[in-house]
Amino acid sequence: MCGIVGYIGKNEAAPILLEGLKRLEYRGYDSAGIAVINSAGVKCIKSVGRVKKLEKLLLKKKIGSNIGIAHTRWATHGKPSIANAHPHFTTHKNIFVVHNGIIENYQELKDQLKKKGHKFVTDTDSEVIAHLIEDCYHPTRKDSDDKPKGHFEKAVKAALKKIIGAYGLAIICRDEPDKIVAARYGSPLLIGIGKKEKIIASDAAAVIGRTKKVIYLEDGEIAVINGSKIKVSNIYSAKGSEASGKSIKKKINTITWGQDEISKAGYNHFMAKEIHEAPEVIINSTRGRCIAARSLAKLGGLESVKKELKNISRLIIVACGTARNAGLVGEYMIEEAAGIPVEVEYASEFRYRGPIVNKNTAVMAISQSGETADTLAAIKEAKKQDALTLGIVNVVGSSITRETDAGVYNHIGPEIAVASTKAYISEIIILALLTVFLGKTHKNMSAKKAKEILYEIEKLPKKVQSIFGQEQIIKKIARKYKRSDNFLYLGRKYNYPTALEGALKLKEISYIHAEGHPTGEMKHGPIAMIEPDFPSVFITPKDSVYEKNISGIEEVKARDGKIICIATQGDKKISKLADDVIYIPKTIEMLTPILAALPLHLLAYYIGVGKGYNVDKPRNLAKSVTVE
Ligand code: AGP
Repeated sequence: MCGIVGYIGKNEAAPILLEGLKRLEYRGYDSAGIAVINSAGVKCIKSVGRVKKLEKLLLKKKIGSNIGIAHTRWATHGKPSIANAHPHFTTHKNIFVVHNGIIENYQELKDQLKKKGHKFVTDTDSEVIAHLIEDCYHPTRKDSDDKPKGHFEKAVKAALKKIIGAYGLAIICRDEPDKIVAARYGSPLLIGIGKKEKIIASDAAAVIGRTKKVIYLEDGEIAVINGSKIKVSNIYSAKGSEASGKSIKKKINTITWGQDEISKAGYNHFMAKEIHEAPEVIINSTRGRCIAARSLAKLGGLESVKKELKNISRLIIVACGTARNAGLVGEYMIEEAAGIPVEVEYASEFRYRGPIVNKNTAVMAISQSGETADTLAAIKEAKKQDALTLGIVNVVGSSITRETDAGVYNHIGPEIAVASTKAYISEIIILALLTVFLGKTHKNMSAKKAKEILYEIEKLPKKVQSIFGQEQIIKKIARKYKRSDNFLYLGRKYNYPTALEGALKLKEISYIHAEGHPTGEMKHGPIAMIEPDFPSVFITPKDSVYEKNISGIEEVKARDGKIICIATQGDKKISKLADDVIYIPKTIEMLTPILAALPLHLLAYYIGVGKGYNVDKPRNLAKSVTVE
């Protein structure tokens, strides 16, 4: 997620803007920039890397300004570079914009604006916003089709009505240097009310150093801030008196959190925050990609290789750790629903075992960081053997994305906790979209089947949210078992990878020994470990292998092992068999791993917290393993 700061007030703007960016650094970013207005016009400075670098560039310049905007960029479109850093502006250098969010129809808008003579200098979606506003604002240019008589606020409204997507914006205008415009749709934005100054920000962390009084903008609201006045109105036509852009009365709130709680959004740890982000993770990963009514999974990043994808006879997924567990879910999805053979490889093994790869093989990396050395090396090996190389990656412009022929970004913002949770959810969702994409491309999937999957994906955010209602139960279970020395995690078919993921999360967060196995594998060895009080976690949603799982549970029960089940809401049979049950909503079989992962991530989290460990930074682990 990008960080936005805007300032207008009696003090020098630049130092306050920089201080705000520093307080937003926890959000993760790859570049930063600032634009301030003074008597000489607009001064805009950008840098790649840390905010400190931007600060050094500014120190050399005496800017003398009391109005400006600033930004830390988490790349979604276009790699980290000075040009792609915000603020964005046009050749007129009149309108300057900082943006947090994703513009879905940016390409179409860009093409239209290019036809009007606009010159673009970046590959970002955000730059389109500056051109769009300029196009609506500039009264002298003949070609502008929205002429709001050079009124900054009206030009912004006219432009925003053409945008489809999510935005949090702060905008300044050289020709109207006494005001800042802020607007919000889908990305948080607030206005700090200080002593003779106002600070716009994407979250409270940037303002609490100067004020605790804030106004929160709601989706569809625009604010014009000049001097002591703040005018908030609706961007889109609203019912009743506000339709004509009349002022909306806004409540002034007082922030009670400190800096640390704010960066964790009130959670005690980033891991907890990121687990609870799951509903918005699903929304952001599928935004503009899940068109159920047209049985269409739109993966723009794969369009350039659609022809090659039509001819692949096999897909190999290479990944590590949690990313590989997601890949295993993808294997079941794509083989069962898209009819394409899939193998999932440990990336660290792939290149040493002399893999058989050719031009009809696609090799796909799954990696949150995009920097995992083993996964990068596997992709390089695949390229050497003429395979089509793909990626599902969260960090734009990372090494793996630069190495692969094409891919899909997660668009879920930085994952700070070492334990990968929200990335796992996102990777599975994208694999479900890929299953539809490949199934349709290979003509192995009917429109009906595609719609069934896509409509169910649309329902997931609410279903995921409902799982958090079990959080107290999960906490209790964690307290009950946190002293166990061993755990077994068991699941079948789509939830065999869930068993692996649950075991991995517990190991890395609580340091307890845990193994994941297919339930059917119990009798071939693992069951020898079962003794009274030995906890086994069974993932047993109502699916095609439910009865088979029940027999696994009974095998453990017969030996007085403790049984914890992840089961489908309403399943009474399970509560008679298990010692503890966590219920998840019903969904189609291939999507159960998404719902089942959440209780397991929370269980690992609460056991780790209960043991007093640093769950965000577990011992011996790194967030990105950039060494082999
Ligand atoms: C997961 O919780 C671990 N932190 C680790 O297994 C991780 O998934 C693995 O190192 C792969 O990282 P990547 O997704 O950034 O490539």
